[in-house]
Amino acid sequence: MKHPFYTKFLLAPALASILLFSCKSRKNNEKEIETTEHKIEVEIKETEVNGKRANVYTLSNQHGMRVSLSSFGGLITELAVPDKDGNIENIVLHYESIAEYDNNDSYLGATVGRYANRIANGKFSLDGTEYQLATNDGKHHLHGGLIGFHRKFWDHELITEGTSVKVKMSYVSPDGEEGYPGTLSTSLTFELTQDNTLLLDFEASTDKPTVLNLTHHGYFNLSAMNEDIRGHEMQIFADKYTPADETLIPTSELAPVDGTPFDFRQPFAIGDRIGDVTGGYDHNYVIKEQHDDRLIKMAVVHHAGSGRYMELYADSPGVQFYTGNFLDGRQTTRGIQYSKHMGLCLEPQVFPNSPNTPSFPSARLNPGENYRHRIQYHFGVR
Ligand code: GAL
Repeated sequence: MKHPFYTKFLLAPALASILLFSCKSRKNNEKEIETTEHKIEVEIKETEVNGKRANVYTLSNQHGMRVSLSSFGGLITELAVPDKDGNIENIVLHYESIAEYDNNDSYLGATVGRYANRIANGKFSLDGTEYQLATNDGKHHLHGGLIGFHRKFWDHELITEGTSVKVKMSYVSPDGEEGYPGTLSTSLTFELTQDNTLLLDFEASTDKPTVLNLTHHGYFNLSAMNEDIRGHEMQIFADKYTPADETLIPTSELAPVDGTPFDFRQPFAIGDRIGDVTGGYDHNYVIKEQHDDRLIKMAVVHHAGSGRYMELYADSPGVQFYTGNFLDGRQTTRGIQYSKHMGLCLEPQVFPNSPNTPSFPSARLNPGENYRHRIQYHFGVR
């Protein structure tokens, strides 16, 4: 029998180890009043997936914004932010228990790796050697293969530096896992700030040349799932996107968005033109044509009813805009059915199928290089 996550801890306190931590000085003096402004609280719970232990860290800031992070899967399992009336509600699709994330074929809240998105036919070549990856999307490789990073047990630690509190997760992917070359040492550090920003910082290194494309695959719904995302207003700061074939592999063209339903340079309701896009939006936008480490404001999503908005910043060349087209209502969490378009993903990434598309920014990582990828979600109301 599956226990809902929270119930499990209420009913089985022996399983739970809860640590309440705050950065503030506990001395009753003026300094405390000052530092109370910078309090980040941390709650840690233990849970089990397939008989193995995992931790769930919940960070909360002074505005009541909170995020829950599972070391199983490197997942974001809850993200609660205030609306314009100060109501703090969860705005990501999630499951009730962590154990359910072991059967997460929609990639809810997932850290995706080694390669987010598709690699055509699961094949690519590096330095004259052809590699065959696991195929799990018809003939293609998708989101890391059969057991992607979203189903791994990550090592985890809490890092406190001054007033900042971070949760660092690490995973070492063995040489040959899912067909990829090289032992890959990966870390993902999460930080919640007092200005309602969630920072994700990926780092990796390899002992053989390989390809890599790590991202976060959360489904956002700023109405707190009171309606689907077609009424959300979207803005994406990209002049071009990568058209794809019917199996969602890019054609290698960088096409202008001008005059198409893909043009979100000015804000548009997502539902206004979604009917003109076969299957719904599931496309990579071109933010940069070359790799560099500049953090760019890629997109802004706004939900007028709640007033909530989210700004996305990241340093990758592309971002996948996906409108939950494959959600089919099978999943119901706390009475909310996850039907088509119930959530939207904005996945900062290198372009899909880059290892087979020499004109795209490269996804290659060599020994001695440090891979770094930063994603920042900033929340506010207007
Ligand atoms: C998205 C991808 C979609 C679909 C989805 C998972 O990132 O663009 O095509 O595979 O993940 O259901």
